[in-house]
Amino acid sequence: MTLSRRRTLQLGLGAFASAGCAGMHNPGEASNDPPQNFSVSGQMQLKQRAAAKGLIYGAAGSYPSLSQNPEYAKLFAQACGILVTENELKWLALRPEPDCYDFTKSDWLAQFAQQNGLLFRGHTLAWNQANPDWLKQVSRQDAEKVLTQHISTVVKHYAGKIHSWDVVNEAIAGVLSERSDGLQTSPWLALLDKEYIDIAFRAAAAADPKALLVYNDTALDYDTPEDNRTRSAVLDLLQSLKSRNVPVQALGIQAHLEAAETRFNAKKLRQFLSEIASMGLKILITELDVSDRGLPGDIAMRDRAVAHAYEEYLSVVLDEPAVIAVLTWGISDRYTWLADFAPRSDGQPVRTLPYTDDLRPKLAWNAIARAFDGAPKRSASI
Ligand code: XIL
Repeated sequence: MTLSRRRTLQLGLGAFASAGCAGMHNPGEASNDPPQNFSVSGQMQLKQRAAAKGLIYGAAGSYPSLSQNPEYAKLFAQACGILVTENELKWLALRPEPDCYDFTKSDWLAQFAQQNGLLFRGHTLAWNQANPDWLKQVSRQDAEKVLTQHISTVVKHYAGKIHSWDVVNEAIAGVLSERSDGLQTSPWLALLDKEYIDIAFRAAAAADPKALLVYNDTALDYDTPEDNRTRSAVLDLLQSLKSRNVPVQALGIQAHLEAAETRFNAKKLRQFLSEIASMGLKILITELDVSDRGLPGDIAMRDRAVAHAYEEYLSVVLDEPAVIAVLTWGISDRYTWLADFAPRSDGQPVRTLPYTDDLRPKLAWNAIARAFDGAPKRSASI
């Protein structure tokens, strides 16, 4: 399976690229000389620090981790104000057969969220990955019906109980696309061309007029040819959707960051966020994590570099009032997809999320707390 941070993880070049470029880092940049001071005042949890600024903080949670580890589940509920399904609402998990919807695990997560006072968020209704094999048998003639029925059934199932939906995930492939619009090859693109995006949003809006409908994508963060191309293609896509009154209401920025990536351009990112906001869209940071691949092994230094990447990034994005929520892709290094998808070349466990694998807050936690504490307060209307 190929996954994002799209370009580097897909090509498997992350560790490579950063190791090879180590000599090119300027003094003071992430992997060479991370800052020392991540002090935080007070005892508040991340969700409370976010809420104090009118923001929502939460994370991706999965059925296996939350149902099997009560200590983890307790921490998750304390730390988070929102839960997004990590895998349980992907087609592959939910639709083992064309005529079967298996809501067992996603319902468990929805109930966990409700019982613990967390908002609930669904991921995802149309994606090029994590699809069941039977989708390959669907004809062009039937495709619209299959997509619409799926979305209608799933969105209605959670109507009134869900904060937001990642309606379409990763539709843009940017520089990797052979198309001028940058669209990503996918079963839906093959079956319905780009109309699949309109169809998906319209079906979701019809099924639940209250849920916030999000277009979610990756590789939007850095000043690289890839990310620059993705930002531009995402802007074009959203403008086109808005101009045709397709009911997209927010952009989800996955934000799978890499601590060893030095091409962070605060001004460009800030400008992009302003352009999205000026279209009347909200913004959610939906899958934030920081890979430590390509950083030296020393744990203290590595934690500082990862923390610095969190704080630097969040301080830029939280400056934009249209940003309403920040979700990390998990809360503990014990359960992070990056252990499998971006492992370290030295074989050490990755240290990417706010809590360690034994559930203690680490510098990444401080960095996120500091960014929330320093964020401007949202006005009630945002
Ligand atoms: C990942 C999950 O975290 C893993 O457990 C699973 O094996 C693969 O998918 N972008 C996305 C998410 O939109 O769905 C991906 O989640 C991470 C990258």
